[in-house]
Amino acid sequence: MNLKDKLKKVQRNKKAILATNFYNLETLKAVLQAAKNTNSPLILQLTQSSIEYMGLELALSMGRSGLKYYGVEGWIHLDHGGSVELVEKCLRAGFDSVMFDGSELPLEQNIAQTKKVVEMAKATNTNVEAELGYVAKLGQSTEKMEYTRPEDAAYFAKETGVDALAVAIGTAHGFYKESPKLDFERLDAIAKAIDVPLVLHGGSGVPDEAVKKAVSLGICKVNVATEIKNMFMKNLQQLLVNNSEIDLRKVFPTAISAVTRLIEGKLKLVQ
Ligand code: 13P
Repeated sequence: MNLKDKLKKVQRNKKAILATNFYNLETLKAVLQAAKNTNSPLILQLTQSSIEYMGLELALSMGRSGLKYYGVEGWIHLDHGGSVELVEKCLRAGFDSVMFDGSELPLEQNIAQTKKVVEMAKATNTNVEAELGYVAKLGQSTEKMEYTRPEDAAYFAKETGVDALAVAIGTAHGFYKESPKLDFERLDAIAKAIDVPLVLHGGSGVPDEAVKKAVSLGICKVNVATEIKNMFMKNLQQLLVNNSEIDLRKVFPTAISAVTRLIEGKLKLVQ
């Protein structure tokens, strides 16, 4: 099933699909094993930096063969595409889904560029995600909060014809200093104003109950990245203290299993 139809289906059932970023073979294996263990669908996300690190074709084919090898229903998604050019490259390469992130542009420019991407994606029936409002990116201030306004969401959805919309309701990318307070009333109002599946960015560090509530109110895709990197690297760092093992195949599996356990827990939350 293509991702557009799958998102509509989970939306009808008031469920969500987890979207996990991967950075190398090890984190890819970890998230796929979790999806396999819990019999869950999974969106595999690549950011521009991960694409630059692994190479576009290699990253895409790793994701594809990983899904096949583990027997997981899944899709490859461009996370935070910052330019129409990058989105176009990913569409040409055969991604199942692309995000054009114009959230830092003025509303009309965000609409114009998103519309362009929606047009480009029509030929391949590829899922297009956009973002409206300010969800602080890594290193950006979380003080400046610009939540998505339901009336803007309605206007944006109508003008662009986008398939999925990331909304700003109190989350931010990376870890939080204090537990985030999500604006559920706003989320409810947005979900009532548009029938486009909604996306929660900044899933790392959001309490389980808040994730569940957000899903019950209309979030259909939950993004998690930072917790994966953190779990993998912290484990590796610990394993390497006073350890001179040079066979990386003996070191990585413990860190992979830790990420698998983390993602199994997240997958159970959204189903
Ligand atoms: P976190 O890194 O906070 O989990 O956010 C992930 C995300 O939203 C990717 O787009």
